[in-house]
Amino acid sequence: MARVLVIYHSRTGHTESMAHAITGTLQGEGLDAECRRVEDTTPEDLLGVDGVIIGSPTYYGTMSAEVKKLLDDSVKYHGRLDGKMGAAFSSAGSTGQETTVISILEALLIHGMVVQGDFQGHHYGVTSTGKLQEEDLTRCQRFAQRYAALVKKLYSS
Ligand SMILES: Cc1cc2nc3c(=O)[nH]c(=O)nc-3n(C[C@H](O)[C@H](O)[C@H](O)COP(=O)(O)O)c2cc1C
Repeated sequence: MARVLVIYHSRTGHTESMAHAITGTLQGEGLDAECRRVEDTTPEDLLGVDGVIIGSPTYYGTMSAEVKKLLDDSVKYHGRLDGKMGAAFSSAGSTGQETTVISILEALLIHGMVVQGDFQGHHYGVTSTGKLQEEDLTRCQRFAQRYAALVKKLYSS
């Protein structure tokens, strides 16, 4: 069974709600998925999983310092995360979510991770604005279902 770690930072709960919705859907799809706050995550945690999904609030159009710190600390395993499946999500007050998602994906791609876009939904990774609405949860589910389908193809043996 493929193992996935959903890591998030959240001060006011919006990114956290997305993380929980994504993790719940991954588990519903039969994956061994765990949700963890970035403050409780170490670079070592990235080693033991097949996939990593990282969520951050949008802070000035990019990821929060807490998420950046984890990614910067992960340099000690540069080369060892190659081929894992990555993805990213973000919540903003109004705008800037896409550049935040891309900023996370840049680091995951540099690690050599596999990243899937979306031809129909949010292209780069799922995003939301302010307090989560029902449609945001539906988007999180779609994002997680697509992630689950590919991670199973890549890593379930
Ligand atoms: C330091 C800081 C910078 C922010 N920068 C932006 C921004 O560039 N664009 C935006 O729309 N919202 C911005 N916000 C608002 C947050 O992105 C928004 O409230 C988000 O939903 C918070 O997510 P959380 O509930 O998971 O903490 C900023 C908030 C803080 C605290």
